[in-house]
Amino acid sequence: MKYEKNRLFPFQTSDFALQTSELTPLGKFCVLFTTIVRYNMSVMSEYVLVTGGCGFIGSHFVRLQLQNYPQVKVINIDKLGYSSDPARLRDVAHDPRYTFIKADIRDKSKVLKALKRADFIVNFAAETHVDNSIKNPVPFIESNILGTFQLLEGVRMCPRLVKFVQVSTDEVYGPILDGYFKEDAPLRPSNPYSASKAAADSLAYSYFVTHRLPVTITRTTNNYGSGQFPEKVIPVFVKNALAGRPLPVYGDGLHKRCWIHARDHCSAIDLVMRKGIAGEIYHVAGDTEITNLELAKIIVGHLGKPETLIRFIDDFNVRPGHDRRYSLDASKIRSQLGWKPVVDFEKGIRETVDSYKPEAASFEHNRHKTKRRLACASAA
Ligand SMILES: NC(=O)c1ccc[n+]([C@@H]2O[C@H](COP(=O)([O-])OP(=O)(O)OC[C@H]3O[C@@H](n4cnc5c(N)ncnc54)[C@H](O)[C@@H]3O)[C@@H](O)[C@H]2O)c1
Repeated sequence: MKYEKNRLFPFQTSDFALQTSELTPLGKFCVLFTTIVRYNMSVMSEYVLVTGGCGFIGSHFVRLQLQNYPQVKVINIDKLGYSSDPARLRDVAHDPRYTFIKADIRDKSKVLKALKRADFIVNFAAETHVDNSIKNPVPFIESNILGTFQLLEGVRMCPRLVKFVQVSTDEVYGPILDGYFKEDAPLRPSNPYSASKAAADSLAYSYFVTHRLPVTITRTTNNYGSGQFPEKVIPVFVKNALAGRPLPVYGDGLHKRCWIHARDHCSAIDLVMRKGIAGEIYHVAGDTEITNLELAKIIVGHLGKPETLIRFIDDFNVRPGHDRRYSLDASKIRSQLGWKPVVDFEKGIRETVDSYKPEAASFEHNRHKTKRRLACASAA
């Protein structure tokens, strides 16, 4: 690990003499002892700065760092946008190694001090829902492109940075009907979300080439797991199935997606952060490729609901240019860094579906309460 010079010698012998000149021998011993302990702790600690850590995947990553690495201190910067939820990190929020900063990554004055302490930066912060990017692309340009740009500018002033990981998506390549994209495939994004991610990736890579920043890029397929915002396909299917409402499947349902558990995605990012080579792109993909119709059937099957709930809806207006299939070749990260996913899809998806049951029940409860209130209000 690379450290700035003054970090190796954070105190001068003259400082020590000054601090202790009026102390008893025992006092001098205590000052020396605490100084050495503090010095060792500062050398041993690794500061991992995570942006978007209150989001779905970011929160899994924060937890992984705190659980697996006792020497790690995590700084989480999140603007607390609509898809974030600090409660996702309820279990680790009181860990003294965890610090939360509410800030937009575009706000350099708020994030620079934290950036300067970072050994590693992992940029999850982004607007992420494709349908929203079609309705209003502005927040996507602001957070995903301008946000990444401001972070990279800030990173130029980070004296101790070892690695900057830009977390990206398979969607930057656009659709592929057969085969897999390798890391050197051209970028052909087909919606404003994926275009904004492709722009952010390009900026990150340019800062590696131009400013020699230690940038790596990870691109992954669809993530599943607990804690995803209710607008995304799995929580929507679960919530609707439990309420006996139709499961909206876009188009003919034969669009294919490859699924990876968020915990497996995070273990890959962790490996890239620690062992990846600066300037490289790494694909992260699970082994399960299924159509959206198959996904809907798995979910209704697990919940004991009838397949008749599945309803095909015309996606022309909600998702024009809906990409048919995404696919990544992840052999590079497997062979070069020794990564492999460990969560079995059948088990993982069952756990995920079960994790949304309480949320779905409270959603229904609130929905009925609101309906009753509206009925009373109109009757009054
Ligand atoms: N979910 C997936 O299937 C998937 C797949 C591939 C790649 N990714 C990428 O992984 C990352 C995380 O995705 P997610 O599903 O956890 O998203 P999410 O929407 O659940 O979380 C995003 C988080 O980023 C924060 N954020 C957004 N803009 C910000 C800004 N300007 N400043 C500070 N914080 C900001 C939000 O408040 C939120 O907490 C994204 O970069 C996304 O492109 C996601």
